[in-house]
Amino acid sequence: MPRQQSWKIQAELPVEYEIIESHGLLDPDNPDLLRLPGGRRGTGTRLVVLDHSVDELYGAEIRSYFSKNKVVVDYLTLPGSEENKSIERVLEVVNKLNEVGTNRLSSPPIVIGGGVVADVVGLAASLYRRGIPFVRVPTTLLGQVDVSVAAKSGINYGGYRNRLGAYTPPPRTLIDRRFLATVPDRQLRNGMGEIFKMALIKDLRLFELLEEYGAELIETRFQDPRAGSTGLPGTVADEVIGRAIAGMAEELQPNLWEKDLQRSVDYGHSFSPLVEMRALPELLHGEAVAMDCIFSALIAADRGLIDDAQLERIIAVARRMGLEPSHPLFCDVALVLDGLADTVRHRDGRQNLPMLTGIGQVCFLNDVTENEIERACAGMGGLLDANAGRPGQRIGSDL
Ligand SMILES: NC(=O)c1ccc[n+]([C@@H]2O[C@H](COP(=O)([O-])OP(=O)(O)OC[C@H]3O[C@@H](n4cnc5c(N)ncnc54)[C@H](O)[C@@H]3O)[C@@H](O)[C@H]2O)c1
Ligand SMILES: [Zn+2]
Repeated sequence: MPRQQSWKIQAELPVEYEIIESHGLLDPDNPDLLRLPGGRRGTGTRLVVLDHSVDELYGAEIRSYFSKNKVVVDYLTLPGSEENKSIERVLEVVNKLNEVGTNRLSSPPIVIGGGVVADVVGLAASLYRRGIPFVRVPTTLLGQVDVSVAAKSGINYGGYRNRLGAYTPPPRTLIDRRFLATVPDRQLRNGMGEIFKMALIKDLRLFELLEEYGAELIETRFQDPRAGSTGLPGTVADEVIGRAIAGMAEELQPNLWEKDLQRSVDYGHSFSPLVEMRALPELLHGEAVAMDCIFSALIAADRGLIDDAQLERIIAVARRMGLEPSHPLFCDVALVLDGLADTVRHRDGRQNLPMLTGIGQVCFLNDVTENEIERACAGMGGLLDANAGRPGQRIGSDL
């Protein structure tokens, strides 16, 4: 018998990336956008990918920033919104990187926009020459509090959300809440959906801030009050954004590669992905997440893990921020069970359902039954009825 030889390769991959708040990012005297981690400046032509709304609203300012800083830039403008998180858009970025002649390390592309363009460029960068660095500037609330911390990128494929993706965090993400001044109300509420989730799983103080100031933060678009006015101080916006980012970072860091499939940040993401895809383009991600948070809270209340007063408080905060608690697709037992089945495959055969045991606390369940799902679907039906006749609150009313 011939001797069988074998080899084993073991290596470690240290990962470090930073999320930096930078007020006045587009001020030509602010060097943050030009710096690479470690403080060096990039070289060569930089590809700057802009979300189409960002290009419309800030394009002139962005172009002036780079030209005043004498950086040679080639621009690519891509549409936001979920339908564009596609392989075709990823290839568009790859073709542009070829055209620009991007260096492997020293001229990282910069993406300025919402979560969709950040994911598209993130995946393109992870594939290009098997991976190049990039710089991420999220300009939506959801982008600033959620995508900003993410190590991964993904695109939709075959009718499933984020079916193709990669784990390659950009070395730098820059946050400037001034971009939120132009984000439409509905998109701000969408971001609030993820903040709401973070508050529910681990941060009672954040929940209380949402309870007290959530609606006003949306109204003032997270901006500082005008000089001399007594409006909501910017420190509230900073605390809410800061707590959401810190909470996410704390949860992600010990499990960045998701080897542990029991993740509390998956709260709100167990039943919603399929519903969200089926509802496209009617439901935004954060809207579907907020509904899933409530769907899961109904299961928790049904089991006695939280009491009715806590359930009511949770639903009331969502409503106060203009987040609908329910949607007809969440009442469709077969669809929700299908969604859960795919989630179970995603969690490698286990439900691993994060469930509230209080506001700011979770446990994990692996024995949720079809009967419980049916009752939660019926509960979502009740919440739908409660919405009927509430003017100006319909989902899809593009406020
Ligand atoms: N990589 C991750 O781990 C991760 C984490 C969370 C979410 N995501 C993804 O993020 C996506 C959602 O991101 P999103 O909510 O930012 O959506 P989005 O990128 O579609 O942006 C929403 C809309 O806002 C517009 N916009 C962007 N910035 C603006 C500004 N400053 N002013 C006015 N309009 C502006 C966009 O053009 C778009 O029409 C989802 O696909 C989700 O899967 C990814
Ligand atoms: Zn999410």
